[in-house]
Amino acid sequence: MTQQIQSASDEAVRERVESLLAEMTVAEKAGQLTQYFYMGFMRDQAKDGAPSQPEMVEAAMTRSGVGSLLFLMDPAEINRLQRMTIEGNRLGIPALVGFDVIHGFRTVLPVPLAMAASWDPAVIEQGQAVAGREARAVGIHWAFSPMVDIARDPRWGRIIEGAGEDPYLGGKVAAAQVRGFQGSDLSSPDNVIAGPKHFAGYGAALGGRDYDESNISDAELWNIYFPPFKAAIDAGAANIMSAYMDLNGVPAAGNRWLLTEVLRDSLGFEGFVVSDAQAVHDLFTHHFAADLADAGARALNAGNDMEMTFVDPAFDHLVAAVEDGRVSIETLDTSVRRVLTAKVRLGLFENPYVDEARAAEVLVDPAHRQVAKTAAQRSAVLLRNEGELLPLAADELSSVAVIGPLADSPRDTLGPWIFDYDLAETVTILDGIKARAGEGIDVQYAPGIRPAFRTFPSMFDAWPNNTPEDPADFDDDAELAKAVELARASDVAVLVAGEWQNMIGEGASRSSLELPGRQLELIQAVVATGTPVVLLVMNGRPLDLRWPAENVPAILDIWYPGSQGGKAVAALLFGDDSPGGKLPFTWPRTGGQVPIIYNYTRSHKPNDQWRRDWDEESTPLYAFGHGLSYGSFSYSAPTLSSESIAVGETLTVSVTVTNEGSRAADEVVQLYIHQRYGTSSRPVRELKGFQRVPVEAGASATVEFTLGPDELSYWSAVTRDWVQDATTFDLGVGGDSTVALSTQFTVTA
Ligand code: GLC
Repeated sequence: MTQQIQSASDEAVRERVESLLAEMTVAEKAGQLTQYFYMGFMRDQAKDGAPSQPEMVEAAMTRSGVGSLLFLMDPAEINRLQRMTIEGNRLGIPALVGFDVIHGFRTVLPVPLAMAASWDPAVIEQGQAVAGREARAVGIHWAFSPMVDIARDPRWGRIIEGAGEDPYLGGKVAAAQVRGFQGSDLSSPDNVIAGPKHFAGYGAALGGRDYDESNISDAELWNIYFPPFKAAIDAGAANIMSAYMDLNGVPAAGNRWLLTEVLRDSLGFEGFVVSDAQAVHDLFTHHFAADLADAGARALNAGNDMEMTFVDPAFDHLVAAVEDGRVSIETLDTSVRRVLTAKVRLGLFENPYVDEARAAEVLVDPAHRQVAKTAAQRSAVLLRNEGELLPLAADELSSVAVIGPLADSPRDTLGPWIFDYDLAETVTILDGIKARAGEGIDVQYAPGIRPAFRTFPSMFDAWPNNTPEDPADFDDDAELAKAVELARASDVAVLVAGEWQNMIGEGASRSSLELPGRQLELIQAVVATGTPVVLLVMNGRPLDLRWPAENVPAILDIWYPGSQGGKAVAALLFGDDSPGGKLPFTWPRTGGQVPIIYNYTRSHKPNDQWRRDWDEESTPLYAFGHGLSYGSFSYSAPTLSSESIAVGETLTVSVTVTNEGSRAADEVVQLYIHQRYGTSSRPVRELKGFQRVPVEAGASATVEFTLGPDELSYWSAVTRDWVQDATTFDLGVGGDSTVALSTQFTVTA
């Protein structure tokens, strides 16, 4: 059934695409389905007579055109290669330029997990709108973002790129990012295609080991891993990137059930699918495909429209595959239509080049830095604040010690997965505290310890500044003593600890969650001085904070807060703003508890009545949705529009939250439900609503939620379909996932 034409522009786009397609040869069609890395710095790395990587790409441009290029950031270089592409193919079809714009381009935003911790879709949308505007300004048309992989195992380094463990929060975050990137019109010079990734189940890698297989039940796929992709698709995402790994024994890039039956037939995706890097070629490496020709044919037939390739493309064999019947011309045309539709919607035929002068202006727009600062402030999560040590009273302080190498590291302040950043303009935590403290407070810094290092190189070490410097002639004992003495002599010690940014992200899984290096020793030594300590955690996964959680009065998770990180953190420390973020994951006490999630099923021996581990508490260190503020919130009992509804009907839940503290603050009001019985066992609680609301001291705010089939249905392994049971629900509304579910309602058949 052809979809009702939403607008004349859709018809115009369709006609333009069909007329192009009708003129194209099979070779030109196949050319549109290949996306090449263009690694200019490898030009002089030709070996044994073969062309260098960039020369291989340029040859493809002039042979039959290229569908897309990636890993380009400079507007002049992009214009040069775009011209070469257009002039290199008979029909003058331009290339799509894609790039990893994950959390900012030149203006670096807090990492995606931090943005999710804001529980603020509006600030997330603003952030990605800035990122999309800067990217499009330099000639990038497509962001390989948002990463929407649910992560329930924080040993997996890519947890940092997503929105944590929960499908409801993940869906809201994904949709906000897509809106931010794409805006309302892809032909606008401020918008780019959003490319949610990696479809699907990548975050369930065996043991949290990046790239390893994911074995996921159908119920988990439909209830946990697919929903954020569905939300991104419903928000209009024009691209999807398929995943690297085997999903239940079938590599995602060659998985027709996944890429066609699920993604298109069930989730309704109509855009184009790109593989991850070399993932089509690597169907051969998986020992799934017999050779590259088999790999290319099976990927295309599965619904993987475009191959992201670095070298030796499998899609170079597509013409032969069409000739020998392994790929039908209809299948080829379907994929080419999807890619051409994206190019026409972006307006690339009319405007294939960018204005380099405008690009330079957009990249330094001060309004972008303000958005980044606000995002960093709203992402921070106050984990502990014993005795209300925070906020610091500047007028009562005369000296502040800032301790730990991460406090003075611009590169780590920015986090992983960025390439066009400006280290000089990055505001470190130390910079921020110095600037905010002003003349009246003596702020001194001591690293205390040397940085910690990975046991093997990061895949990003080809780029500068990716690994910390190991300081020459660093006297470990003397430096530790110096930091301790500085803390002892100061009114307060602000200590930054966590992971270095090359320890988290792709190819950065870990077997433990301990603080790397001598950081715990440093924390213990500083606490032992008796000076009050504020611990700032710089991280992209939960870390083992069992000792600090008992011994450090104030703990603020600042993540990797981006270009304006120091300004944002200082504003929070000195009370110019209150932290209001909440955890987007369950924080384990130790790596041995992993995976530990909040939405597990009840079992015959409920966890709250029967401990699990004899050697450790069975509860997390901090709960999903946990986060304090400088306010103090109390909740009324929820009121329901009805105690009973029929299947298919909706009810509203209303609750009043009061700030009984002395400072204004935001509260993220969270709604959780539990289904008591039905077709399947259901989680002890599930997030089904949230709103971040500002509440002045002494004031109240009333928040309403709607519950209906969207929130109350689930996919059941019994019926192997979506069901909404007639049953009883328990419900609770509060500031984190430990809220008592003390309100009931029933759903009748
Ligand atoms: C990487 C990542 C993917 C990224 C792509 C291009 O290996 O898996 O997220 O977008 O390659 O850099």
